[in-house]
Amino acid sequence: MISAEAPSNIALIKYMGKLPAQTQDVNRPTNASLSYTLDHLRSRVEITKTQHQDSWSPLKKDSWLTLDLNYKGRDKFLNHFARLKNAFGIDGFYEVSSANNFPAGAGIASSASSFAALTLATYKLARSLKPDFDLSLAKLADFSRQGSGSSGRSLFSSYCLWDKEGFHQVGQKWPNLIHDLIVIDDQHKFIGSSDAHLLVANSSMFSGRVERAHLRLQELMQAFDSMNLEALTKICWDELWDMHTLFHTSNPAFMYMNENTLLALRIINQATRGVTGPIVTMDAGANIHLLYFPGQETLRKSITEKLQAFKLLQQKAVL
Ligand code: PMV
Repeated sequence: MISAEAPSNIALIKYMGKLPAQTQDVNRPTNASLSYTLDHLRSRVEITKTQHQDSWSPLKKDSWLTLDLNYKGRDKFLNHFARLKNAFGIDGFYEVSSANNFPAGAGIASSASSFAALTLATYKLARSLKPDFDLSLAKLADFSRQGSGSSGRSLFSSYCLWDKEGFHQVGQKWPNLIHDLIVIDDQHKFIGSSDAHLLVANSSMFSGRVERAHLRLQELMQAFDSMNLEALTKICWDELWDMHTLFHTSNPAFMYMNENTLLALRIINQATRGVTGPIVTMDAGANIHLLYFPGQETLRKSITEKLQAFKLLQQKAVL
């Protein structure tokens, strides 16, 4: 049995919108994105040899949540496995089992961590069969990207930039952040990110999106370099609204935010008026990600108290 684990990641500058696919080459973004890796939210994949055909099953292990992938989800996962087997020259059939330690399909980027874990496990399998087989992390990330674009970023910690040249670790001097998730909705989202990528292209607000994302990315990197926390929180706040506005104005329009999302955002907004808050961001889902800077432990406690009515998934760490 071969196994691998990978973390999830949350984009601060979002990958939303794809270039038209060039034959086999899928998941090329319209703009560069930058993420923070969420080491405490993880996926695990185990691969075992079987006789008949490749299959998927939920991994059952202590502390991992038993996953219920629908047919579409299984197909996508096994198609990626088939693509990797083909590229890495792996013969035979295998059972692929996977699990996350957090709810899947709810906009907490479980596809990023699970596709990254599948790519790493399949690479380990290839190396167990051919010890000379050797790929760089950047090359592996590019393979992972073909299963799920954002998964390529999960191979680099803590900050990853995905631009025209590929995936790179950036910001070695940038701070470690503490991640709290406000779980507004842990059910499967009604529009998957693959559909969202297509739909936003019809938004009346998509024009100018690439330029806005590009400018924000430059500003974000400068703000991290100079540790301008106010600028960092503002840029990420604007970016969260930019992506969700694309959803709200696409044709047809759709919404992940619900009344509880807005309530929680309003509480955070009020709690941080006049003080530098945590980074507040969202993925394609109703949930809210908070990333606290070093030294914000007291603020974290007070915001946590104000969010008592909500379910929180808090990283076990102090700043
Ligand atoms: O990797 P995908 O195809 O699931 O795209 C997800 C993109 C977002 O999570 C919505 C944003 C991002 O940059 O991670």
